[in-house]
Amino acid sequence: MSVYIQSVGVEVPERRVSNAELALMVDTTDEWIRSHTGIGSRHIAADGTLTSDLAATAARSALAKAGIAPGDLDFIVIATATPDYFGFPSTACIVQEKLGALGCPAFDLTAGCTGFIYALNVASSLLEANRKKHALVIGAETLSRITNWADRSTCVLLGDGAGAAILTRTDEEGSRFVASVLGADGTGAGDLRLVQSERAKTFHPALPIVPLLEMNGRNVYNFAVKTIPSVVARLLALCGRKLEEIAWIIPHQANARIIQAAAKRLGTPEGHFYLNIEEYANTSSASIPIALNEMNEKGLLKRGDLLMLLGFGAGLTYGGAILSW
Ligand code: ACO
Repeated sequence: MSVYIQSVGVEVPERRVSNAELALMVDTTDEWIRSHTGIGSRHIAADGTLTSDLAATAARSALAKAGIAPGDLDFIVIATATPDYFGFPSTACIVQEKLGALGCPAFDLTAGCTGFIYALNVASSLLEANRKKHALVIGAETLSRITNWADRSTCVLLGDGAGAAILTRTDEEGSRFVASVLGADGTGAGDLRLVQSERAKTFHPALPIVPLLEMNGRNVYNFAVKTIPSVVARLLALCGRKLEEIAWIIPHQANARIIQAAAKRLGTPEGHFYLNIEEYANTSSASIPIALNEMNEKGLLKRGDLLMLLGFGAGLTYGGAILSW
């Protein structure tokens, strides 16, 4: 049995906020943001646009590219840190209704910025265990809703967007997912979280019940720089490959400096990593499928190429996969 990514689709809000525009709202500069993060702009969802709206549009695009109907879906898994409702109903159920894919199981998964990697693993396991055909895997975020727009150390980092992938199982021999690693270090749970804190209340006295993102940026940075090389080593050991055999490394887009530091530790050129953080900033669970879609549209992905996906984020979670495109 073999599971592979048949198609990818995205939805990114039209509204683009440059660093210069952000600098009118908060005490920062284009120079600081670029030099510390590699970010040049972010896209922000319009008032009234929900995570499920971005997710459903990305999903329609992926379905159309794969040439399959919503009714052919066997599973819908959505990774999101910004669901339409906290708790329930799941955003996946709302997207299922929007697509008209009624009947198939649909649920959300919480793994912060590693969400898309976790969701790929869970969905491909579900397809194999149940001998089903198609899963819709989505990473979708409206991080602007949980951004503390008065906290310059985090608000400059985040953006909105969604990416969807159709996973398809075939009967051909040999899996196209050649290695997977998932992990978590809960001792860092406090380093990146949604809080209804006194600090948040002082920034937003008019919004007393909206939870906002708080981060210990230094701890998350150190965690990512240490974790990436260890996940890469574990992935390569699992399938007996060398880093030079990987055509592209597609990391979660959190900070260009994290990738530069990780590339240095791995002894591989920065250009081995695909980066588009300059345009979209950090879209959490959506960043990897948005990058995959962009690479595909640019003709950078060739059938049979080995790709390495890498994620790290709140939890603290981490994960990776090597797959044959
Ligand atoms: N503009 C100008 N100055 C700023 C800004 C800003 N936007 N933000 C912070 N500063 C200032 C600080 O106040 C500090 O000033 P001080 O020295 O006078 O106190 C100085 O810059 C240095 O601040 P640091 O926090 O030490 O800056 P650092 O170089 O560590 O960069 C950053 C901060 C970019 C957040 C970095 O720690 C990082 O990338 N961390 C990882 C972030 C990440 O990947 N998070 C995960 C994603 S979020 C999610 O999961 C949804």
